[in-house]
Amino acid sequence: MKRPIQAVVLAAGRGTRMKSDRPKVLHEIFGEPLLSYPLEILKGLGIRRPVVVVGWDREKVLSYLNGGATAVTQSPQLGTGHAVQVAQRKLRGFRGDILIWPADMTLIRKETLAGIVREHQRLNADVTILSSFLVDPTGYGRIVRRAGRVVGIREELEATPQEKRIQEVNTSVYLFKPARLFESLKKIKPVNRKKEYYLTDTIQWIEEAEGRVLALPYALPEEAQGINSQADLACAFKTLNQRNLRKHQMQGVTVLAPEQTWIAPDVRIGKNTVIYPWTYIEKGVRIGRGCQIGPFAKIRSGSIIEDKAVIGSFVEVARSRIGKKVIAKHLAYLGDAVVGEGANIGAGTITANYDGKKKNKTRIGKNAFIGVDTLFVAPVQVGDRAKTGAGAVLKRGTRVKTGEVFVGVPARRLRK
Ligand code: UD1
Ligand code: CA
Repeated sequence: MKRPIQAVVLAAGRGTRMKSDRPKVLHEIFGEPLLSYPLEILKGLGIRRPVVVVGWDREKVLSYLNGGATAVTQSPQLGTGHAVQVAQRKLRGFRGDILIWPADMTLIRKETLAGIVREHQRLNADVTILSSFLVDPTGYGRIVRRAGRVVGIREELEATPQEKRIQEVNTSVYLFKPARLFESLKKIKPVNRKKEYYLTDTIQWIEEAEGRVLALPYALPEEAQGINSQADLACAFKTLNQRNLRKHQMQGVTVLAPEQTWIAPDVRIGKNTVIYPWTYIEKGVRIGRGCQIGPFAKIRSGSIIEDKAVIGSFVEVARSRIGKKVIAKHLAYLGDAVVGEGANIGAGTITANYDGKKKNKTRIGKNAFIGVDTLFVAPVQVGDRAKTGAGAVLKRGTRVKTGEVFVGVPARRLRK
């Protein structure tokens, strides 16, 4: 980067089209609010404290941010241009470039941003618009060019039939030189169908003042997909999932049915692992090499599954460490458990980890053999090579020593 960059994330809108009680930016994909996606990427670009414009349901958004950004309140919300005007007071004296990113453009990738930053600075532009070409551009602002040069952005509502045919759209992600941005923001007026201050109107003013305006169509159609409605949210979820799946496929993971498999970001999976259909893997999970996961498995955050383990149908694993070569083939819930190498978990095994107040641990030793339908009322400890009988109920605090066999309800040691 030639010049430093500060980012402004727009997150004040209500998201009327979501028809929901939650502010739009707090709707979630893979358990993370939309707002977290741009913040995460910005962090990756070295922008640690962006300015976030909040407004609608401000308290909730602020509590999510939890001091991790410079928040500024826009109230009432008079449009995207107004939002940036409000952010201006947090940008005084800043001499680098200003990156504008609406939080509902969740799918923009880091590589794409890096590309526009590079070109914006290399070509010394006053403003660079990230654009994209869409087969169906309906609803988006259109990039209006004259003899190839960008002369403005026209919103759908104001576009003439001719302009509506333009397929190059505004993603609403831009880089601005601060002086150009703030001088042009002074000129915008809410003279449009929505009676809003449109940020898009700055482009025409910068062009008229002989500023250098670029629009770079670096955004793939899937990245340009904004999230405005519930249907868009589902679409974004699908796109993000496909990206994650592809990443694992490239690294030698077999995903048999990508349409019926869900893998959150930041998951690590080793080579030669096979993921069977209808598997859902949450953020941060680590799975080793040569494992079999699913069909119909749910692996929740905080879980580590070591090499060659088998997590079969209708098995849920939560915050657990599953050792090498463990077999849990059918119908089990393993929550807050540590399962040693080579243990066999019978069908119907349940760790009752929650006592109504806190989560308790179940520890199962190496090569233990857990009979079908065993119930562990945690905390429980089972030693190496120990066994439980079918239907055993291990009361809270039970300790099964190495090699012992426990059976019955409540389970007791079986004497030989
Ligand atoms: C905007 C662009 C459009 C572009 C599209 C891409 C304008 C006028 N139009 O339209 O050219 O094609 O994005 O997705 O900019 N927000 C605020 N304060 C406000 C209004 C909005 O913070 O007063 C925030 C919203 O929370 C949202 C973002 O700005 O994250 C964009 O607002 P939205 O109303 O969704 O704009 P679009 O109609 O999608
Ligand atoms: Ca939008």
